[in-house]
Amino acid sequence: MEKIVVKGVKELKGEVNISCAKNSILPIIAATILCPEPIVIEDTPKLEDVDVICKLLSELNCDVNISNVNNRLTIDTKNIVEMDANTELMRKMRASFLIMGPMLARFGYCKLSLPGGCNIGSRPIDLHLKGFKLLGADIIMGHGFVEVKAKKMIGSRIYLDFPSVGATENIMMASVFAEGTTIIENAAEEPEIWDLAQFLNKMGAKIKGAGFGKITIEGIKSLKGISYRPICDRIEAGTFMIAAAITNSKLKINGVNEEHLRPVIEKLKECGVKFSEYINNSVIVDGRATKKPLDIKTLPYPGFPTDMQAQMMSLLSIVEGVSVITETVFENRFMHVAELQRMGANIKIDGRTAIIEGAQKLTGCEVKATDLRAGAALILGGLVAEGETEISDIYHIDRGYVEIEEKFRRLGAEIYRINV
Ligand code: EPZ
Repeated sequence: MEKIVVKGVKELKGEVNISCAKNSILPIIAATILCPEPIVIEDTPKLEDVDVICKLLSELNCDVNISNVNNRLTIDTKNIVEMDANTELMRKMRASFLIMGPMLARFGYCKLSLPGGCNIGSRPIDLHLKGFKLLGADIIMGHGFVEVKAKKMIGSRIYLDFPSVGATENIMMASVFAEGTTIIENAAEEPEIWDLAQFLNKMGAKIKGAGFGKITIEGIKSLKGISYRPICDRIEAGTFMIAAAITNSKLKINGVNEEHLRPVIEKLKECGVKFSEYINNSVIVDGRATKKPLDIKTLPYPGFPTDMQAQMMSLLSIVEGVSVITETVFENRFMHVAELQRMGANIKIDGRTAIIEGAQKLTGCEVKATDLRAGAALILGGLVAEGETEISDIYHIDRGYVEIEEKFRRLGAEIYRINV
């Protein structure tokens, strides 16, 4: 079994390059199903989740190739088949469910195993199915599968009870060829939604309003092959900003869109972190000043991202004073608290609220990554804990962070992967 070992307490220095966004490239790869011509995606991040969705497309008889030159991913879905997608792969990554919208748009049919829940919540798909139904699809559920079929997709007005990222993406893709106009109201506004729409429009789709609460899709006949580079990963960038803060270091981070990270930057500024020299998507993050406690509530974009909640909790665990974090997006996203408590963090949970009494220091010990961002939070804790922190179940981390220990090692951290 692989583990990551981190030796604290080290100041970091230098610069780090942020990879392309996991949560952009997954829906973009799913969207290639809409186009029978070859698509090239540049700078594809080497991530477990990218491997899973590429394997899924290969099993549907698509040609999927990645070259070392520029990590160039080429996908040709010309010969795609309609067979039922591999249950085991579907269960492995819920984002696989994002192929349902494009399969429905291209074939008028799709049958997938229901995506599992995960450690952070039940992860329902009711809003995805509500959109498909309003677009003219019949939904059949049973035996752990969901089947959608439609003789003809008709544009419709779809209101999302919650601005679900996945539902917005799946419905946007399902409606690309629908007759007439589709309007998605109370749509998710995350930058990755904007990126997916940019990708689809470059292929010839007619989508307006992505990144805002109301998205309009005019149905078209077909799409053409293109090449595309997704946006940088704002959550990876935010993770390294917190690394600078938690280790009292000054770092240069390359691949930062200030607008996409506004909620994280504003909260870190409130905490005492300084940001300067925003030049060509790079920023200097100075975390050397004394930090102040914070009150944070996670919200859909443009609120504070739930995907940064665990990492922020690691920082606030060593900031003197009482901080409060309220998780409003997922119902069970405090699994990392027990692990941070093992390291000496003083955290109390009251429903969806965590009250953090900043401890003087954390101490290294054996801990377990319980989900992707919790794993990153434990690495951050390990960077400032006295002694060694040994993190197991690191497959969670490999799902969403490219070569994380190499990137931290290049900043001077004592961190390495072991096989036990
Ligand atoms: C995406 O998940 C991201 N994953 C998640 O990132 C991220 O945490 C989440 O959006 C919120 O920003 C990808 O983009 C691959 P949602 P998604 O649908 O689409 C409820 C990471 O660490 N909901 O916006 O699954 C749901 O229960 C991962 O990179 C319904 O009720 O998130 C949850 O409470 C973790 N019905 C809330 O919406 C539905 O049909 C947010 O879920 C769908 C969702």
